[in-house]
Amino acid sequence: MTSRRPSIGVFDSGFGGLTVLKALLELVPDADYVYFGDTARLPYGSKSVETVARYAVQSAHYLEKQEADLLVIACNTATALAFEQITAAAHVPVVGVVEPGADAAASASRNHKVVVIGTQATVGSHAYKKALEARGLAAREKACPLLVPLVEEGWVEHPVTEEIARIYLNEGFDDGFSDADVLLLGCTHYPLLKPLLRRVAPAPASIVDSAESTARAVAPRMQQLLGESRAEQRRAVPRLKFFATDSVEKFKLLGKRFLGHPIEDVRHVDLQE
Ligand code: DGL
Repeated sequence: MTSRRPSIGVFDSGFGGLTVLKALLELVPDADYVYFGDTARLPYGSKSVETVARYAVQSAHYLEKQEADLLVIACNTATALAFEQITAAAHVPVVGVVEPGADAAASASRNHKVVVIGTQATVGSHAYKKALEARGLAAREKACPLLVPLVEEGWVEHPVTEEIARIYLNEGFDDGFSDADVLLLGCTHYPLLKPLLRRVAPAPASIVDSAESTARAVAPRMQQLLGESRAEQRRAVPRLKFFATDSVEKFKLLGKRFLGHPIEDVRHVDLQE
């Protein structure tokens, strides 16, 4: 029996990973969470493999120092580009968003055709395409770089966002993919656009959210760790700690929108290169 409560370290390039934390809190409310947002260096979605891997490994080490027992790489770009490097550098188990997202898409698709949307870097890595093809599905990847800034602007129900999403999805569900029956959200920001994407995506396509799929994959592992901790620790409410590499105030302001409730305990971190 361990003497302290198990803790999940959640890593993202910034605020978006709070959608994954939100999904985790719904399924595993009785754990401790340490969230690290590399807000000073976002966006990751337009950066190279080398840069993203370096940033992500540094951030993962920081979470390990905060005694995380399990690392969740909430950032789709970091998972797609640097999952192996992060896993090799970490001393605790690591879960990324690509494999759980691909599993959920594979279960949801009847005609084995999926359209995946994500950042430029995620799409360029073909991580989702490879994961989906390994499960016998055909995948069309479509980069939607304008959606992240629009979500951060708070324009989740704005006509401009709707028009841009329509253009992106028309291009995604094109040329042999007009009958794809799953739209896989391969970016932390897109869950906030779900109602808008539902209106814009072809009606028969179901929407699979990699944030929710990841939380479902992590839940049993955390329940196992919690099962090994003491009963009084399990009954306590979740403890949340947040670390950000840029402004604490900005993290609180934007973070609230992604997490769905106010964020209190945020500390600034300066990661030395
Ligand atoms: N968190 C990133 C992702 O899920 C989006 C934001 C960024 O580009 O840093 O791909």
